[in-house]
Amino acid sequence: MRCPNEFRRETLPAALQNHRPEWGIVLGSGLAGFVDRVGIVDALPYESIPGLPVSRVPGHAGRLVLAKIGAVDVVIAQGRVHLYEGRTAPEVCAQVRLMAALGVRRLVLTNAAGAINPAFVLGEWMAITDQLNLTGTSPLLGGAHFFDMTEVYSARLRQHFAAVAARQRVTLHEGVYAGLLGPQYETPAEVRMLRAVGADVVGMSTVLEAIQARALGMEVAGFSCVTNWAAGLAAGALAHEEVLATGLKAGAQLGGLLEAAFAGEA
Ligand code: HPA
Repeated sequence: MRCPNEFRRETLPAALQNHRPEWGIVLGSGLAGFVDRVGIVDALPYESIPGLPVSRVPGHAGRLVLAKIGAVDVVIAQGRVHLYEGRTAPEVCAQVRLMAALGVRRLVLTNAAGAINPAFVLGEWMAITDQLNLTGTSPLLGGAHFFDMTEVYSARLRQHFAAVAARQRVTLHEGVYAGLLGPQYETPAEVRMLRAVGADVVGMSTVLEAIQARALGMEVAGFSCVTNWAAGLAAGALAHEEVLATGLKAGAQLGGLLEAAFAGEA
C-alpha cells in the first residue's frame, strides 16, 4: 500500500519549487548552531508554508532553510513539532512528507537526547542504529501499512558517516534511541527500564519521522547529541536549559561531519 502524501511539488511556495535537494536534515533542540556553517540560499518560516504545523517550544525556531553544504543542495528543517505539544503523529511528520515532495531521498534526523549508556560523554554524538518507538502511536495509522522495519537506519549511510568521523577524529558512538511521548522527563525507574530493554539514549522525537521517511522510501540516518544524563544517572534534576546549551556547542561539530560526509556522497 502506497504511503499517502498530501504535499505536491507543484503547489508548494515558488521558492521551494526552485530548489532540488537530494538530502533533508531535521535539526533537534538547540542544534540550530549547525545552520551557521552552511551556505543559506533561502529561509521560509513554517507559517508561510501551507500545511506545516508551527512549534512554540523555545529552541525550535521553525523555519525551512534551503542551503548548500559544499556542492550539495539540502533542505534543513530548523525546528519540529512534537507529540507532547498535543500534535498528532501525521502533524509531527508533515515536514518529512514535504521533503519527500521536494525530492529528498536521504534524510538526516538529529535530536538532543539523555544518555543511558554509561560509556557516553556529554556533548558527544551517537549514530542511531535502531529505535524503540514508545510513543504508542504511528504516522501510518489509518491504513494497512504493515511496513517492514528491519533496517530503519541505513547501515550503508552509517558506515559512511563512521568513516568520516574517524578521519575527523570525532567520537561517534552507535546505539539505540528510545522515543517517548513526554513532555515530562523520565523517572529514574523508567530510565532503569529503558536500559534493561536495550536503549542507549532517550528522547521525545525522531522515531515517528524515521517511520514516515522509510514508508516514503527514503534512506535514513539519525544522530543523537548526548546533552545530559538521563534521570537518576547523575546528581540533581534535569533542566531544558542544560540540554539547549550542550546542543548549541555540539551542533557545529555535526556540521563539520555532515559537510565532509556529503562531499563524499554527492
Ligand atoms: N529525556 C528525554 N528527552 C530528552 C532528554 C532526556 O533526558 N534530553 C534531551 N531530550
